[in-house]
Amino acid sequence: MAERPKWVPGDIDLDRPSVARVYDYWLGGAHNFAADRAVANRTMEAMPEVRRVILVNRALLRRMVRHLLHLGVRQFLDLGSGIPTAGNVHEIAHAVDPAARVVYVDTDAVATAHGKSLLADLPHVAALQADLRDPASVLGAPEVRAVLDFDRPIAVLMIAVLHFVPDSEEPHKIITDYLDALVPGSYLGISHSGGEKGEESEAVAEARRRYSAQVTPMVHRDRAELTALLRGLELVEPGVVRLPHWRPDSPDDVDEAAERFPGFAALGRKP
Ligand SMILES: C[S@@+](CC[C@H](N)C(=O)[O-])C[C@H]1O[C@@H](n2cnc3c(N)ncnc32)[C@H](O)[C@@H]1O
Repeated sequence: MAERPKWVPGDIDLDRPSVARVYDYWLGGAHNFAADRAVANRTMEAMPEVRRVILVNRALLRRMVRHLLHLGVRQFLDLGSGIPTAGNVHEIAHAVDPAARVVYVDTDAVATAHGKSLLADLPHVAALQADLRDPASVLGAPEVRAVLDFDRPIAVLMIAVLHFVPDSEEPHKIITDYLDALVPGSYLGISHSGGEKGEESEAVAEARRRYSAQVTPMVHRDRAELTALLRGLELVEPGVVRLPHWRPDSPDDVDEAAERFPGFAALGRKP
């Protein structure tokens, strides 16, 4: 039986690893339990660079939000936002414009409970526990309607989450349902586990097998498959690229390993 701190909401089974809490452990957070740490460590044994991959993903999130702010976007719907850790979307956005609006959405009860307590005193920011695969519920939620103005552009973010949606659950339709609710000039930003066809190393494949078996199945998509998911959108330069290649702050940030980075990022604009 796992330890059960007071901040754990409801009837969560702490012996069952969760995507959000495993990720929190890799990020060095405190909201995870023995079962989460065990699978995180087993995955890392197969692929020791997991933590670096995740830090690169968080850096990508920051760059993408900053670029969206530069493009004039002031509203963000962050789907699969995770447990709030430093460098969240509202912190990045409010550094540029304190009036920016952000809604965090996650299925995980711990992530949402922490989001709510962290954001309680902030105007224009909310957290919602919901499943992104149900766009109608997310888009119709009172938290979303209260914070976001659907007559102005909104950036929908799906950062490191779309790879939990298999083709059988129609990810393109899910994306389309969100975009249909937004005005032209809105955006979709993604990062996603993947690589070129046939390229996945045995270490990455083994890590993905361990994670998929014990946490939740994870889909690896190649560049063409991801580009297809974004059809109908105008791709912002540099298109669908490995995370480190997506608008790096400095050319020095892109090392040799960037060419084999196990994931892609892209930003698309609704025409
Ligand atoms: C790998 S974490 C990424 C967190 C954050 N977006 C980032 O990139 O740092 C994935 C998050 O998506 C959440 N998630 C997974 N499937 C989801 C779904 N169907 N709807 C909403 N959230 C989901 C998990 O609970 C987890 O917090």
